[in-house]
Amino acid sequence: MRGTHSELFKGSAVAKIHDTAPIPVYANRHMPHLQKLKELAEKDRLAEAGGGEDRVAKQHAAGKMTARERIEAFLDPGSFVELDKFVVHRCSDFEMQNQKFLGDGVVTGYGSIEGRTVYVYSQDFTVFGGSLSGAHASKICKVMDLAIKTGSPIIGLNDSGGARIQEGVESLGGYAEIFWRNTQASGVIPQISVILGPCAGGAVYSPAITDFIFMVESNSYMFVTGPDVIKTVTHEEVTKEVLGGAETHSEKSGVCHFVLPNERACLKAVRDLIGMLPSNNLDMAPALALADPADRPCAEIAKILPDSPNKPYDMRRLIADVVDDGKYTEVHAGYAKNIVVGFARMAGKTVGIVGNQPIHLAGCLDIEASVKAARFVRFCDSFNIPLVTFVDVPGFLPGTEQEHGGIIKHGAKLLYAYAEATVPKLTVITRKAYGGAYDVMASKHIRADFNFAYPTAEIAVMGPEGAINILYRKEILAAEKAGRLAEERTRLVDLYRNTFANPYKAAELGYVDEVIAPEETRRLLINGLKALEGKRERGPSRKHGNIPL
Ligand code: HXC
Repeated sequence: MRGTHSELFKGSAVAKIHDTAPIPVYANRHMPHLQKLKELAEKDRLAEAGGGEDRVAKQHAAGKMTARERIEAFLDPGSFVELDKFVVHRCSDFEMQNQKFLGDGVVTGYGSIEGRTVYVYSQDFTVFGGSLSGAHASKICKVMDLAIKTGSPIIGLNDSGGARIQEGVESLGGYAEIFWRNTQASGVIPQISVILGPCAGGAVYSPAITDFIFMVESNSYMFVTGPDVIKTVTHEEVTKEVLGGAETHSEKSGVCHFVLPNERACLKAVRDLIGMLPSNNLDMAPALALADPADRPCAEIAKILPDSPNKPYDMRRLIADVVDDGKYTEVHAGYAKNIVVGFARMAGKTVGIVGNQPIHLAGCLDIEASVKAARFVRFCDSFNIPLVTFVDVPGFLPGTEQEHGGIIKHGAKLLYAYAEATVPKLTVITRKAYGGAYDVMASKHIRADFNFAYPTAEIAVMGPEGAINILYRKEILAAEKAGRLAEERTRLVDLYRNTFANPYKAAELGYVDEVIAPEETRRLLINGLKALEGKRERGPSRKHGNIPL
């Protein structure tokens, strides 16, 4: 049973921490304010003790760090400045007036990552399960407001049982205040959610609005309703891992962007990502002086691209040959693997990379790939990150499952996102660019700035097999009757390929600016990025567009 401060002092775990720790000597012991400093030190220790030794031990036993340990591991050493350390909740129902903990279950403040200011909040599961009270929410809102005002990223370390049940609507209001700020901050400052424990009920919607969600392999859960409620309502039995664990959200739902094996690796990955991003929508991402020469030939691409147009290859290998030091931070690596998205540097500057992935579903666009890439494109456009797109797409995935699932509106999201983006857009068609997918994948027509194609590019309304079935139906039937179907199909496919399976028709029309040798890719992209640094583009005046959601 929790106690008031005075009760805690009488022998609880929290009181023990206070009683045994040494009190710093801030001043001569005879000075009159010594007592006041002692009182401050006592309050500091109480706040830092969280829910007390037993609950901290339980947290550690579960393989989790405490809220403060996480901040310590996350920020530059010694940079954290805490705010609202002594805030307590205001609830008096359910005997809550007798159960107050300084800080009320969340540690908030600011610090730095590689010297750049970030705001942070870290929920303390040892206090009421990190649940969100009105006061707890106000603390989070305060750092969000500061982050927005100062143009600094905000990172939430989430470990919470959701709305504090004892507080009722005050807690729900607190969540909505956070959601509203998440929405205001969207596209203004990077918002990152790190899920380091349960994240139940309302606790999932703030992360959902933020730009990137990180989870750890065990101990991270996100669900709107937990297994118990599901069992009661639908009689379905499911574990919390299957319902909303890291694997589920990184591979099935696509809610989570990054999964790391443990908390330390996770916090390090967040730091690395922040290092690639600008602090706000008016800044540029920090540039690095890298040794990789801008004119380095891409020696591997010619070996990576197969001779046969039907053979798959790993687009990530091609990307690695182009970008600085071969380093590429893939986002959403486990989800919609038929498209790859991520951040890399070119000549030291951050770029967003999108590429169709021929080793999964032949790189076609489906619902999940369209939504994944659309969100990424919009993030890059919000934060001045140029987009480099590698195209090898046989088209949209056909079938009733896709049509009934709404590929029309979901595919349109990617089309809309690319068309709307005003950051520099550079495109390289490596092989196939067929049908609507040609238009969607940063084509000239939706205002890409520089469009390159390799001599291996094939640009047409559809692939040869499908096209000849429509164009030469009669000839194919006749050949079938005459028993020479195979030869006839080969002849017609070759005919079609010779006409369309090259980049020169598009180059004649100016839809492709330059047909390039693969080894020139890096040099030309870096030149293009430099030439586009001054790009300014404004659309018509409006409140906001209406992306097909
Ligand atoms: C108050 C809570 C709490 C909550 C946990 N605790 N959740 N207190 N409000 N929401 C307290 C527990 O009473 C316990 O207190 C301590 O936190 C640790 O909880 P345990 O259950 O012992 O931990 P564990 O077994 O690890 O389970 C964690 C959990 C479970 C999965 C999060 O506690 C749980 O299911 N909580 C409820 C989740 C939930 O349904 N939340 C409300 C969602 S509705 P002691 O004193 O024993 O340490 C919602 C609506 C918002 O959020 C909508 C806004 C749009």
